[in-house]
Amino acid sequence: MAAPRNGDAAASAAVLFVCLGNICRSPLAEAAFRLEAARLGLDVDVESAGTGDYHVGEPPDRRAQAVARRNGVDISTYAARQVTEEDFRRFTHVVALDLQNLEALRLRRPGDATAELSLLLDHVEGRAGEAVADPYFGDASGFDTTWADVTAGARALARRIAEER
Ligand code: 4NP
Repeated sequence: MAAPRNGDAAASAAVLFVCLGNICRSPLAEAAFRLEAARLGLDVDVESAGTGDYHVGEPPDRRAQAVARRNGVDISTYAARQVTEEDFRRFTHVVALDLQNLEALRLRRPGDATAELSLLLDHVEGRAGEAVADPYFGDASGFDTTWADVTAGARALARRIAEER
């Protein structure tokens, strides 16, 4: 990743999680990462977005809200938004939830992007190249799997950022 621009490196970390609709996986990754960052005392900006615009302005899927609530985070006030070009400059880490969205991000990445692009589960030992499966068309139990996956990814990424700072 790019070298920190100043001595206040911890304040400059900013992470954006990206899925397709920004109503299931990436809001859960954002919530899980907020928990991990707080646990590590990491000062980091965290947001999420979608490559698609189907659900812009909507709160997370009710099943995502429920699994987050069961794990101690209220995501009911999150509102879906689409990725912008500015995101590639504003965030230090742009993290895709699956390979399809990673590819969509690569295609949209502007020439002056400064963000490091990665796949969430690439940060987890032994899970490189794996996608966080889309739970949208499945049943509620799929969201528990999503929560477990995004927690593993968030934990590994937060630890890595903490070590870099
Ligand atoms: P997400 O899930 O990308 O994890 O937010 C989806 C949400 C909506 C749709 C697909 C995936 N959709 O087709 O509307």
